[in-house]
Amino acid sequence: MLPRKINRENKKRNHKPFWLGTVMAKLPPWPIFYPLYEAAQLNLVEELYWSPRVPAGFDGFRLVYLSDIHYGPLFGEERVRDLVQQVNKLHADVVILGGDYAVNSDGAVEFFRLHPGFQAKTAVLAVMGNHDRMLPEENFEKLLTAMREDGATPLVNDGILLERRGSRMAFVSCDDFYCGDCDLKKTAALSKRADFTVFLPHMPDVLPETYKMHGSLFYQLALCGHTHGGQVAVMGHAVKSSSMYGSRYLSGWYHENGADILVTNGVGVSGLPVRLGAKPQLHLITMKKEM
Ligand SMILES: [Fe+2]
Repeated sequence: MLPRKINRENKKRNHKPFWLGTVMAKLPPWPIFYPLYEAAQLNLVEELYWSPRVPAGFDGFRLVYLSDIHYGPLFGEERVRDLVQQVNKLHADVVILGGDYAVNSDGAVEFFRLHPGFQAKTAVLAVMGNHDRMLPEENFEKLLTAMREDGATPLVNDGILLERRGSRMAFVSCDDFYCGDCDLKKTAALSKRADFTVFLPHMPDVLPETYKMHGSLFYQLALCGHTHGGQVAVMGHAVKSSSMYGSRYLSGWYHENGADILVTNGVGVSGLPVRLGAKPQLHLITMKKEM
């Protein structure tokens, strides 16, 4: 028995390790760190939005849409400055900030008081998210003021109407559906004077409420955030969904009741600084008139 044991040990000593095993042994445990890496990225998603309903005057109009920055311990001032630089380089006609600027309303006020300085040829629009509408209530007015002082136009049950080459396009948004004072009738009012309306609610959960309103739908395109694409998603399903509709509005493009809907993965993170299957996104959408 003894000689056989010695032979086995000798065999082990003489064995040359497979090269891949050697390489992997020297690498850090990437599967563990990958969600941290994914959360730290920002992917520019460039899309052409073709629709026969796009007014001729807005053919080629460029929108930059970003949401859920969540400025704070997990997304610091330096990353905000990098983000703003990247957005401003796109020279958009309209920049749309989709809400959830920080962890809470104090942070949202602080975010705009940094004077991030988003720039657009026509307008920078700012939507209210659920985190932005957290108490105390007096932060609401402070936040509106901070947005305006940074050059952004807050859209809270309100909108703007743009005219271009004889066509009119409205950008409207309600207050946050869960934490704000959401008034859809007031939000919809401006769309009556527009040839095309872009609805900008922070969260897609409000969309089914608009389907219950009288008359035809007041918008043709909706841009939403909030879901973070699940933040950690497996096979198209969020591990933990922030929507009452589960994964119905998880991420990407949808078409419901005659409207086109984009739900972004957002920029920052909430809770833990990790993402999986839900890369951070910044959108550049060029509107194209389909003949
Ligand atoms: Fe949110």
